[in-house]
Amino acid sequence: MSSLIVENIKANYGPITALKDTSLVVPEKAIVTLLGANGAGKSTTLKCISGVVKPVSGSITWANKEIGGQSPNSITRKGIAQVPEGRRIFKDLSVTENLEMGGYTRSDRAGIEADLEDIFELFPRLKERHKQLGGSLSGGEQQMLAIGRGLMADPQLLMLDEPSLGLAPIVVSQIFETLQKLVEERELAILLVEQNMKMALRVSSFGYVMRLGQIMISGSSEELEDNKEVYESYLGTA
Ligand SMILES: Nc1ncnc2c1ncn2[C@@H]1O[C@H](COP(=O)(O)OP(=O)(O)OP(=O)(O)O)[C@@H](O)[C@H]1O
Ligand SMILES: [Mg+2]
Repeated sequence: MSSLIVENIKANYGPITALKDTSLVVPEKAIVTLLGANGAGKSTTLKCISGVVKPVSGSITWANKEIGGQSPNSITRKGIAQVPEGRRIFKDLSVTENLEMGGYTRSDRAGIEADLEDIFELFPRLKERHKQLGGSLSGGEQQMLAIGRGLMADPQLLMLDEPSLGLAPIVVSQIFETLQKLVEERELAILLVEQNMKMALRVSSFGYVMRLGQIMISGSSEELEDNKEVYESYLGTA
C-alpha cells in the first residue's frame, strides 16, 4: 500500500505557467477530490503525477520514492493509472480490445484475464457490449470503459479527470457508487478531479480547491461543503 505526496510542484507550457506551487496528499485507500474552475490547473496536476507533463520543480513521492519526471509507462507500472479528461477511448476498437490496451504495461497474462472478468462484473453493461466498437457506446458507457481501462493497469491509485462531464445525474451517481465500491473492495485510492462539487464531495473524504495553479483551500469534504468561500470565490457558482 502506498500514499501519494505532491509537494510544491511547478509546471509550464512554454511561456504559460500552469502550476505555480501545488501540494496535495492522497492517503492509502482514500478518495480525494480536486476542485477548481476551468483553467485552474487540475488536469495539469494529474498529468504531472502520471508523467505526461514534467514539473520544473517540486517533488512527487509515491510509496516513499520520488517519481517526479519519470516516464508515463514507468509510473503506470508503479501502480498509478490515469483516466483522462474526455475519456479518450479507442473508437475503432471493441470494448474488450479497449480494456486490453489498459493492461499494456503488464505481462501477467492470467492476472490480466482475471481483471478483465472483474471489470465485466463491475460494469455488466460493458460485458453485454464486449464486441461492440468503443465509438458506438453511449457517453456513460464510454466513461465506464475509460475507468475499466484504467483499472486494467491494476493500479493502487486511480486518477479520474472529470468523469461526470456531460453525463446524466443518474449515470454519474452509478459511476460514483462504483468508485466507492472499488475503494472498499480493492487496495485502491482515488484522486478525483471534478467540477460537479456536490457529487464529488459526497463520495470523497477530503478535498482541495485550486485557482491559478495553486491550492487555495483544503479540508474534509464536510468542511468544504459548508464553506461558502469555496462556491463564491473559487468555483464561481454562488
Ligand atoms: N497544452 C497546453 N499548452 C498551453 N497551455 C496549456 C496547455 N494545457 C493547459 N494549458 C494552460 O494551463 C492552465 C491550466 O490548464 P488545465 O488544463 O490544467 O486546467 P483545468 O483546471 O484542468 O481546467 P478545465 O476544468 O477546463 O479542464 C490553463 O491556463 C491552460 O490554458
Ligand atoms: Mg481539465
